[in-house]
Amino acid sequence: MNDTRTYRLPDQQAEGHRRNGPVGVRAYAISEEQKQLGAGRRYYLRTYGCQANVRDGETMAGMLEQMGFVRTSDQTEADVLLFNTCAIRQAAEEHVLGEIGQLRRLKEQHPDRIIALCGCMAQEPGVVENLLKKYPQVDLIFGTHNIHRFPALLQQALKGERVVEVENEQSSLVEEMPVHRTFAHKAFVHIMLGCDKFCTYCIVPYTRGRQLSRPLSYIIEEVQALQKDGVQEVTLLGQNVNAYGRDLGLQDGFTQLLEACADTGIPRIRFYSSHPRDYTVSSIEAMRDRPNIMNALHLPVQSGSDAVLKRMNRGYTAGQYRELVQGMKERIPDLALTTDLIVGFPGETDAQFQETLDLVDACSFDMAYTFAYSPRPGTPAARMTDAVPEDVKKERLNLLNQKVADHGLAHNKAWEGKIVEVLCDGPSKKNPAVYAGYSRHNKLVNFRAEKAEPGQLLAVRIDRAHSFSLDGTAVSGEIEYNE
Ligand code: 5AD
Ligand code: SF4
Repeated sequence: MNDTRTYRLPDQQAEGHRRNGPVGVRAYAISEEQKQLGAGRRYYLRTYGCQANVRDGETMAGMLEQMGFVRTSDQTEADVLLFNTCAIRQAAEEHVLGEIGQLRRLKEQHPDRIIALCGCMAQEPGVVENLLKKYPQVDLIFGTHNIHRFPALLQQALKGERVVEVENEQSSLVEEMPVHRTFAHKAFVHIMLGCDKFCTYCIVPYTRGRQLSRPLSYIIEEVQALQKDGVQEVTLLGQNVNAYGRDLGLQDGFTQLLEACADTGIPRIRFYSSHPRDYTVSSIEAMRDRPNIMNALHLPVQSGSDAVLKRMNRGYTAGQYRELVQGMKERIPDLALTTDLIVGFPGETDAQFQETLDLVDACSFDMAYTFAYSPRPGTPAARMTDAVPEDVKKERLNLLNQKVADHGLAHNKAWEGKIVEVLCDGPSKKNPAVYAGYSRHNKLVNFRAEKAEPGQLLAVRIDRAHSFSLDGTAVSGEIEYNE
């Protein structure tokens, strides 16, 4: 195989590099020749990681289908296998490498098949070199900043070249890329790329670059188009949505954006993810005053210890976080609050972990994603000494999970007997005898109904609460919602 590499590797010193001047916007383009590449061929796509990655996966699926490829869930019959990877924790990476490792034989038997890797792992220093050396079955590697180049890169790879293209930063915002949405009735909308926060444990500013907001008019046009298309719910995506527009020179851009989205009249608006430091009162008030902005908020706190928060470079204390939450709950008493928590950050003592447990009690989250700290190469925390032993991390995680589940159950119990609005996703994957959907407060509701279509908004009476979901029954007739 030819090894014509056209690649630039990510800069390890991402903190030191900044863009030179503003970034332009341009339209995505695909050639007629590229549109023929997939005729009679099939693709397999696997996405790992966060919603931002899921949304990118939808773009690449859209491109593959524009090229004429048909999707398959069977790796053995795919002509192109694309792995859209995540680098947030080591376990995510090991999973991908295991999966790709198993494809060596398939590639030997069918040398014309293309195995491609994209996403956050491709942006990580050292990973590309390792893949090139140890995984000869991989034909194509591209990063998070050149997704728009996928058809051209695939075209090159299909000619038998080994292609690697990874950029440090997004050189321009590319609009009008195709998309194959996972759901017809709900959609993810990128409002910004990258992150400027540089939490010491986090690889995202390195893998996704510095913050880059999409111009407001493009986002609103996209939401309007989705609404025309029958979409009931949009989730605005960014690593730190509260800082939206800062790089465009907007004052309180996130509130402007929320209000403009609410004005479109789309039935449900959510956003993900927030940073406590950049929250403005006006955005909380927009949430309170606009009925189509859901009263469910994901606000990662990470730790309840000031010392740990400082080492994490989070920019707030546990007390400030509590005050913020208190202020929010005063304005929006029914707010459903969820968070992210990390245990076992370097140097975390038993007493500091106890402070995290105390904060969970004080804030009483509806739900929390909990993680054992995983060192990421190139991040400042990976250079810190005083690692917490793995068995201690596991023990802390168990204690924390129990507490999180207790609070979840207490919140969910309060919904028993009430009638809530559920956006139906279709039959439940776990039990096809019931339907699944989400309430306005983002509670997973499994419910019985004679018939429910994906995308339908139904009234559901809650019969039983669990820690992380609710069971209910669809009701009809004159209905008074309790939310
Ligand atoms: N180790 C463990 N958890 C992490 N997260 C981010 N980086 C790491 C890491 N190195 C968690 C944070 C973040 C969520 C998306 O993943 O809690 O909010
Ligand atoms: Fe994973 Fe972070 Fe990349 Fe999302 S942005 S795919 S969570 S590394």
